[in-house]
Amino acid sequence: MTTFWSWYVTLLTSGTILGLIWLVLSTRKGQRPDTTEETVGHAFDGIEEFDNPLPKWWFMLFILTIVFAIGYLVLYPGMGNWKGLLPGYEGGWTGVAQWEKEMAKADAQYGPIYAKYAAMPITEVAADEKALKMGGRLFASNCSVCHGSDAKGAYGFPNLTDNEWRWGGEPETIKATLLAGRHAVMPAWAEVIGESGVKNVSAYVLTELAGRKLPEEAKADIEAGKKIFATNCVACHGPQGKGVAAMGAPNLTNPSAFIYGTSFTQLQQTIRYGRQGVMPSQEAFLGNDKVHLLAAYVYSLSHAEKDAQ
Ligand code: HEC
Ligand code: HEC
Repeated sequence: MTTFWSWYVTLLTSGTILGLIWLVLSTRKGQRPDTTEETVGHAFDGIEEFDNPLPKWWFMLFILTIVFAIGYLVLYPGMGNWKGLLPGYEGGWTGVAQWEKEMAKADAQYGPIYAKYAAMPITEVAADEKALKMGGRLFASNCSVCHGSDAKGAYGFPNLTDNEWRWGGEPETIKATLLAGRHAVMPAWAEVIGESGVKNVSAYVLTELAGRKLPEEAKADIEAGKKIFATNCVACHGPQGKGVAAMGAPNLTNPSAFIYGTSFTQLQQTIRYGRQGVMPSQEAFLGNDKVHLLAAYVYSLSHAEKDAQ
């Protein structure tokens, strides 16, 4: 803020406070201590105003708010460029400084615990109840917006509890997914195989791979679709359509794990225009140790029974 605006704000604010003090005190002056039947002479729709003093507690509340305002303006920045004297904030209080302070405190408190788990293999962390509780909390605040609070996913976001993996379900692979993020690229096919090609290959995926039925009114050549699949799709989805983790290409024989829908129309939409699912990288934001714990939590979601045995 320039000096001019700093003074402008300071004078306006302190002027207002002084004005309020004057107003509260001056209207109190000369007021009677008792109650009266006299009115101040105003009448509104038959309602008259008695000439009584403000109740004392009310008056004190006014004073209190003024004291609060002054205290606040001394401690916190508010008066132009004045940074405030709040203890613990040498450069003055800011929301960012407060957030950083709280994060530093949390890191000092929990850092050693995260570090302890980060030194253990993921499968071992996944069997530790305390670690899973912490992982669950991290998941709730960082992942549930997309994957759902139960981690079962939603349209466009994969279910993390079903042990069906687009990028691989080995503990270290899950961790790699979280650290670096993933960017899936399913190309658009409309230009390559044409509208009838889209229809035929969608019908092939729906019936032969996903094991679902074609809607009755739909007309498509499944044999032709099969040929298109063998030519264009196996490179990523594999010869049996079971997916290739290195490409992030999903298993097309398990329709319950499709994230873009399983209807004939939705499949055509996916294949016609392509899809680009993005799992954001967590490394810079959460750091290795928290990601390690989260990887264990995610791993546990689909391996709980096995571990209990
Ligand atoms: C370059 C690799 C590649 C090729 C080639 C490819 N796909 Fe895909 N496909 C992917 C990837 C990666 C995804 C996941 C997209 C995402 O998660 O956003 C995907 C997703 C899909 C889905 C959606 C599954 C879901 O979860 O809803 C269908 C259906 C599909 N592909 C069918 C096909 C068909 C049919 C062909 C051939 C015409 C084909 N793909 C060719 C990589 C490929
Ligand atoms: C902005 C939304 C978003 C957030 C936040 C997010 N994810 Fe994801 N995540 C996705 C999407 C979209 C995919 C699927 C990418 C694709 O199409 O292949 C994905 C994929 C994954 C996968 C791979 C699943 C598989 O089948 O291989 C894992 C594991 C995962 N996320 C875990 C997490 C965890 C743990 C967090 C919290 C740190 C998180 N995600 C936060 C959107 C998100």
